[in-house]
Amino acid sequence: MSIISKDISKAVKLLNNEELVAIPTETVYGLAGNIFSEKAVNAIFTTKGRPSFNPLIVHVGSKDWLKEIVTTIPPKAKLLADAFWPGPVTLVLPKKDIIPNSITAGKPTVAVRVPNHPVTLELLNKLDFPLAAPSANPFGSISPTLPEHVENYFKKTIKMVLDGGPCKSGIESTIIGFEEGEPIIYRLGSTPLEAIETIVGSVIIKNKKESSPDAPGMLERHYAPKTKTILTDNLVKSIKEHRNKRIGLLIFNDILNDSGIDYKIVLSETNNLDEAASKLYSALHLLDKQDLDIIIAEQLPDYGLGKSINDRLLRATKI
Ligand code: TXA
Ligand code: MG
Repeated sequence: MSIISKDISKAVKLLNNEELVAIPTETVYGLAGNIFSEKAVNAIFTTKGRPSFNPLIVHVGSKDWLKEIVTTIPPKAKLLADAFWPGPVTLVLPKKDIIPNSITAGKPTVAVRVPNHPVTLELLNKLDFPLAAPSANPFGSISPTLPEHVENYFKKTIKMVLDGGPCKSGIESTIIGFEEGEPIIYRLGSTPLEAIETIVGSVIIKNKKESSPDAPGMLERHYAPKTKTILTDNLVKSIKEHRNKRIGLLIFNDILNDSGIDYKIVLSETNNLDEAASKLYSALHLLDKQDLDIIIAEQLPDYGLGKSINDRLLRATKI
C-alpha cells in the first residue's frame, strides 16, 4: 500500500507521537520530526544515514518563532526574513538553549526557515513545536521533488509522505549565516544571489568545501545519481568523447543534432531558469533509471538560478 496521503490530521498525529513524516516544501520534500523529541531526531539521522556532524534545518510556521529560537537577530537577518519568508531562505543564527544540540550537531548556531507551501504551513500551524527536516533522501543521493521520489527511498522505513504535489522551486533553500552582522552564503539555492543582494547589498559566498566548519553539510559529493555524471560547457566535444557509451543528456534547451544519444531531457525549451530548477532533480531521478553508462549535463548560464543549478550539477559529478 502507498504511504502517500493528503491527510494532514494523520500527519499531525504521527508527529505528535514522535514519528517521522515526509513533508512537501516549495524546494524539496523534507523528512520531518519534532525538534524536541530525541526519538524523532535520532530517527531522522538513522533513516537518512546522515552523519551526526551534519546539522538540521528547523522549519517554523511563521517568523514570530524566530525570537523563541535564536538569541540575536542582526538587522540584515531581519531584512532577509521580512523579504523572503515564507520562502527558500534559511538563516543561521546563534541558538537559544531550548534548541537541542542534536539538531545543530553541537554548533552554537541554528538554521531556521519558514517554508512556502500551503500544506506544510497548515501542518506547522497545527503543531506546537517546529519541525526538523533535512531533504528526504538517503545521505548523498538526489533530493526528492515528488512524493513518489520519497516513497521509493523510504517506503519501508517511514509511515507517511504528506502529499503536496510537485515542489515548485525544485532546489534547496539558500543558506545564509552571519559574521559580525554581515551575511555570508553557505549554500547557493532557490533564492538567487542577486535577489539577496538587492535586499542586503553584496554578500560573500562560502559555498565550497573549505567552508566546512561553517556549513558542515556542504560535502563535495552530494545530490548524486548512481550513474556516472559529468558536467560540460562543450556538449559536442563531450558527446564525441563518449560516443561508444549509452549516453543520457541533461541540457538546458534543445540541440540540433542528437544522434548517438540514448536518452535526452531538456530542462527548459524557453530558456527559463525557474523552469529548469523545478525540473532538475526529477530529470536526474529519471536519467538514473535508464541504465545509462554516462549522464552528460550541460552547464547553465552562471547567473541567477543558473548559478545554483550549476552548483548542484557540479556536486553530482564528484566521485
Ligand atoms: O530547502 C531546504 O533547505 C530543504 C527543505 C526540506 O527545507 N532542506 C534541506 O536540508 O536542504 P538538508 O538537511 O538537506 O540541508 C541542510 C543544510 C546542511 O548542509 C547543513 O549543514 C546546513 O543546512 N546547516 C544546518 N544547520 C547549520 C548550522 N547551524 N550552520 C551551518 N550550516 C547548517
Ligand atoms: Mg540534502
